[in-house]
Amino acid sequence: MLKLTDIHTYYGESHVLHGISMTVGQGSVVALLGRNGMGKTTTIRSIIGFTPPREGNIRFKDQDITNLKPYHIAKLGMGLVPQGRNIFPSLSVRENLTMAARRGSTNGEWSLERVYRQFPILEKRAKLKGNLLSGGEQQMLAVGRALMTNPELLLMDEPSEGLAPLVVRDIGFIIVRLKKKGLSILLVEQNLPMGLGVSDHVLIISKGQIVYESSPAELKKNEEIKIKYLCATE
Ligand SMILES: Nc1ncnc2c1ncn2[C@@H]1O[C@H](COP(=O)(O)OP(=O)(O)OP(=O)(O)O)[C@@H](O)[C@H]1O
Ligand SMILES: [Mg+2]
Repeated sequence: MLKLTDIHTYYGESHVLHGISMTVGQGSVVALLGRNGMGKTTTIRSIIGFTPPREGNIRFKDQDITNLKPYHIAKLGMGLVPQGRNIFPSLSVRENLTMAARRGSTNGEWSLERVYRQFPILEKRAKLKGNLLSGGEQQMLAVGRALMTNPELLLMDEPSEGLAPLVVRDIGFIIVRLKKKGLSILLVEQNLPMGLGVSDHVLIISKGQIVYESSPAELKKNEEIKIKYLCATE
């Protein structure tokens, strides 16, 4: 589905990603874990084309997308749930969703009705302005908005950030449900239990490099790695 090969990404002269390689298989959830400022969002920006890599290669559904524009990449079937959600505060829930809809959506694809079925709370809040939602509801809206573009691959940038533990658990359930529907997901997280709970494969990024990669079960047992790269003991 998605394959990064040795990508190097810069902000001006600042070299941030130093040769990232990773694969997200069809229908799988891959968690990219790492502390603040290690390059998680930069990896996502590189994939979606906001900050294209200066070296290396990105393939999506067997097509080279390394130098394509973001709108073109999105159109190929990639959805983004950005860090901090970025919903439109002055638009209603319904407007936030409908403005993301792709033209010509047909049966079986995501529609307003289908997003409401998946997240009944959004239908209840349909007329409320985005900024009146709770953090968890805003996160659901951000996911719903990405689904309205009918993605095959969803990039999620720290969906648990700033949410209470019970709400984080709900977001985890949502990820598992979406995977069951056949979506492939790249989940960027600092929240280790969340990353371990929903993923098929985990990678750790530190200072712009992948420093560890395993099954979630293996990382769960590896106290040394968790302390060294994630400051976590869970
Ligand atoms: N627009 C930018 N211009 C210059 N440097 C940037 C820019 N955005 C990020 N950086 C730097 O790139 C590095 C990686 O940042 P990035 O946002 O990818 O980290 P992150 O892992 O997503 O962190 P967080 O968990 O805090 O979101 C950091 O050193 C950061 O200061
Ligand atoms: Mg980030």
